[in-house]
Amino acid sequence: MSKQSEIVELTQKHLMPNYARLPVAMECGEGSYIWDADGKKYVDFFAGFGACGVTGHCHPAIVSAIQTQAAKLLCCGNVFTHQIQAELAQAITAKAFGGKVFFCHSGAEANEAALKLARLWAGDGRYKILSFHHAFHGRTMGSLSLTSKKYQKGFEPMLSGNARADFNDLAAVEKGIDAKTAAVIVECIQGEGGMNLATKEFMHGLRKLCDQKNILMIIDEVWTAPARTGKWFAYQLFDIKPDVMTLGKAIGGGAPLAACVAGPKCQDVLQPGTHGCTMGGNSLCAAAGLAVMHLIETDALVMRATIDGLDIMNAIHGGDISYVKSVRGAGMMIGIELDKPGKEIVLKCLEKGLLINCARDFILRLAPPLTIQRPQIEEGINILLDVMKSL
Ligand SMILES: Cc1ncc(COP(=O)(O)O)c(C=O)c1O
Repeated sequence: MSKQSEIVELTQKHLMPNYARLPVAMECGEGSYIWDADGKKYVDFFAGFGACGVTGHCHPAIVSAIQTQAAKLLCCGNVFTHQIQAELAQAITAKAFGGKVFFCHSGAEANEAALKLARLWAGDGRYKILSFHHAFHGRTMGSLSLTSKKYQKGFEPMLSGNARADFNDLAAVEKGIDAKTAAVIVECIQGEGGMNLATKEFMHGLRKLCDQKNILMIIDEVWTAPARTGKWFAYQLFDIKPDVMTLGKAIGGGAPLAACVAGPKCQDVLQPGTHGCTMGGNSLCAAAGLAVMHLIETDALVMRATIDGLDIMNAIHGGDISYVKSVRGAGMMIGIELDKPGKEIVLKCLEKGLLINCARDFILRLAPPLTIQRPQIEEGINILLDVMKSL
């Protein structure tokens, strides 16, 4: 039995079967490559569902920041302050819209914080949050309530009163808002929902509507930030600012870090006792996050996301595959819409040494790390196009 098969068997025996895991055991990574336990090498356009989507695997700057911090202090508890946590919040708010930050570990938790903040901010019994069809905001009960219905099956009842509207449909949003609405939560690109891009008109209209109705605009940037779309944050594609933004995945460079960022209007709503997270923003994860923010700056990753993303989209177009309906995205968040399910392509790519995945069955999703180099982009694209042409 191979080492990999042993690990897969051990996993099946001892871990809950809540993930549709592939029979592959990963062992180590470097940049945009990852190796399985039997030594097979893959080009990684999947990047751990985007968690390594900025830095790639084991970037020396991230490893060094983690190692240095690990030897100094892992966690001290949030009744104390810590320099790196404060510097990370400063770095994020400086690139965003000012305000203040709450740190936690996952995108779902960041959205939970945003929901609680919105209810407290409204302060007058307004509690409803409007979200969108095909949205994904996480698996905890609050964030699940705002996520696409297909993920809610079996877990009902959800939080009561929340409305849902079609994405990019302002009239539906207006209809969904009532006197009890406290906030709207939206993704600039629905990552899990099929790589659907918000239009400029929609985001502008939404901003205006939130102002008119005095409700908070929460933008979920868990997939889209930092830098993945060719902007520090995807809302900057639209020249608007949200009131609240949530971050997760790539902000920790692979370490479990997430954040809820509140603008000046609501930055002091979460007072002592209202919310917390024991290890949120602990020194170790904050050190990783700060290293991610520095790396984006020093390696010009915002610009590289735009350039490399365009090249990849052009290469896919150039492949002239008959069953590709559209190629869309922003920066290095790229979706390829097919007129048939993409699973066979994903599995064949895996066999040939390329990791990608599918969103909503018919959309291939490419999320290469922003640090990827030209030869690895070409290697990955060549595998993908060869596989697509063969099927
Ligand atoms: C837009 C968005 N928000 C929130 C989440 C939930 O993040 P997590 O799995 O870290 O809880 C995800 C996960 O894919 C996501 O894509």
